Amino acid sequence: MANENQFRVKTRFIATRNVKEFRETIDRWVDEDDVVLEIGCEWGTTSVLIAPRCKELVAVDISGDCIERARQKHPGIRFEVLDAFDVRAALRLGEQFTKIYIDMSGLSGYRSLLDVIALLTMYATVLRPEAIVVKSGALKHFASRCTAWGQNPQGRPSAR
Ligand SMILES: C[S@@+](CC[C@H](N)C(=O)[O-])C[C@H]1O[C@@H](n2cnc3c(N)ncnc32)[C@H](O)[C@@H]1O
Repeated sequence: MANENQFRVKTRFIATRNVKEFRETIDRWVDEDDVVLEIGCEWGTTSVLIAPRCKELVAVDISGDCIERARQKHPGIRFEVLDAFDVRAALRLGEQFTKIYIDMSGLSGYRSLLDVIALLTMYATVLRPEAIVVKSGALKHFASRCTAWGQNPQGRPSAR
């Protein structure tokens, strides 16, 4: 029997194709009460757009060099070294994150689709944010071709 717990996840997933779309979501998805985790922050170019829109931001990257540079450029933002696949390290950040932003190299192509879904599911299950925004062209394309049965529109497209 399928594990029903996996269907209880309430997190919304927002898939964007490129960095322009990724940043466009900030206006719509980040609120002043939000505690945001940004994964793959590099040297903080998106972090400076998120930080003024939310209550708190923790921006992380696997690269120590990127984090060092980000800290120098933006001393008002909390930057930490973290491997996204180490969710226990994310828990140790000690925050109740309400939104998560993910822009990691290597997640755009179709070959990485399973990695993206595994990563999103892991963060949704463990940290339970309201929403995760991810930069993944493959996920956006895949999602655009999916219809959840029972939600409109549920019919087949005519004659194709
Ligand atoms: C395209 S850059 C991010 C650009 C940044 N989000 C921006 O808007 O300017 C991708 C980043 O993902 C980081 N990255 C790759 N694998 C990672 C991992 N496993 N955990 C955390 N960060 C990772 C890289 O070090 C790199 O800085």
